[in-house]
Amino acid sequence: MTGSIVLFGPPGAGKGTQAEIIVEMTGKPQVSTGDMLRSAVSQGTELGLEAKGYMESGQLVPDQVIIGLIEDRLGDSDASGGVLFDGFPRTIPQAEALSKITDVSAVISIEVPDEDIVNRIVGRRMDPETGEIYHVSFKPPPPELASRLIQRKDDNEDTVRNRLAAYHEQTKPLGVWYSNRGILSAVDGTGTIQEVSQSVANAVRSL
Ligand code: AP5
Repeated sequence: MTGSIVLFGPPGAGKGTQAEIIVEMTGKPQVSTGDMLRSAVSQGTELGLEAKGYMESGQLVPDQVIIGLIEDRLGDSDASGGVLFDGFPRTIPQAEALSKITDVSAVISIEVPDEDIVNRIVGRRMDPETGEIYHVSFKPPPPELASRLIQRKDDNEDTVRNRLAAYHEQTKPLGVWYSNRGILSAVDGTGTIQEVSQSVANAVRSL
């Protein structure tokens, strides 16, 4: 399939977790704006310094910053056959800007109600060496890795509430925007990780 795929959904829906199977099936590289911003924050770059406060309070980083980041990333040679966007676009202006840079062929929306989100996010742990995402209950890490796992600074209950509010106000309307363009496939994200992977794989096969 030519063109890019957008993985869409609320914070903690399982976008990062499910990106793996889509990358495996399509060969498209994953482009996560959250990961790019976290890397900029940890390196203390100008972008990182600008983004840090927004991220730690659960607000969206301004559109023009994100669009510049994506324009640069899409210039890389591995992006020429389309990419898998994870966490981008998140506002209608971002989607409009994207439509002028590259073709989006499909949007896979992972649907999870707010009441499941807080548990998922507060229990998330990340392996900084491999990028693997774990959950203390739903995907427990191997005990030998426990000492090196980290918890994201924005993965606390107060910030999650702000992230959910930003999602409902600024990002959710984008689902309707893509649905009106006939390219949105909704996937039930409430089952186990394996069940959701099956539904995501079915959605990718039907593209
Ligand atoms: P970002 O990193 O994109 O965070 P997010 O959208 O809030 O998404 P998450 O990474 O929290 O969740 P996910 O859907 O990937 O879930 P995961 O698979 O890890 O953005 C962070 C910040 O950066 C934003 O707040 C903003 O400030 C800024 N930003 C980024 N992009 C931006 C943009 N485009 N515009 C403006 N600002 C931007 O799963 C979560 C947990 O649940 C894990 O522990 C996992 O193991 C578990 N889990 C997954 N699936 C299941 C399941 N089916 N059942 C049970 N547990 C599950």
